[in-house]
Amino acid sequence: MQDKLKIVFNKEEVEEKIAELAEVISRDYQDKDLVLLCVLKGAFVFAGDLMKKLSIPSKIEFIRISSYGDSKKSSGVLKIKGKLEIDLDIRGKDILIVEDIIDSGLTMEFLVDYLKNYKPNKRGQSFEKKKSSNHEECYAPNSVKICSLINRLNVENKKIEPDYVCFNIDSKDFFVGCGMDFSERYRNLPYIAAII
Ligand code: IMP
Ligand code: MG
Repeated sequence: MQDKLKIVFNKEEVEEKIAELAEVISRDYQDKDLVLLCVLKGAFVFAGDLMKKLSIPSKIEFIRISSYGDSKKSSGVLKIKGKLEIDLDIRGKDILIVEDIIDSGLTMEFLVDYLKNYKPNKRGQSFEKKKSSNHEECYAPNSVKICSLINRLNVENKKIEPDYVCFNIDSKDFFVGCGMDFSERYRNLPYIAAII
């Protein structure tokens, strides 16, 4: 069955917001050692678009983590696929997590905690295990902040808020496009649409 899509932000609006945000980030990070950490898969388009617009040097790393699977609702359980290992030495770096959309904030809460207490070679640890493990020998970055294409407003028990956002949206709609998918479809759309 074909999904019905409604455009929420068109291509020009998305490009304009990303350019504006890139300007702010370039200013805030001009004396820092910026590493964009792109959360796969959904943020790959946004991270690329954002990086192109930055006027300061930056590096990029990738991490794959999700809480949605193939449904339109968060499972409440984080899925960590493949390596949760970062190739770059993040000690002293200023990490800006680049995410497609923040909903409950569960994914970002986990990732910020994981990075602040980062230890190489500890793969696929669950949040609970991670919380209870001792934090000796950590490779903590200098700072960890969050940049998201979309921030869903008015979510009950929201765990964390992003530091930088393109679009704050007060809606329970499911969004696709600009890297965001529904069952792996629609990532290619150059605009943000809601499935109606
Ligand atoms: P959270 O952990 O509940 O904040 O969920 C965030 C993750 O769920 C994001 O990384 C997205 O991959 C996914 N997600 C949440 N809402 C949407 C949506 O409307 N469209 C596509 N993915 C979504
Ligand atoms: Mg995601």
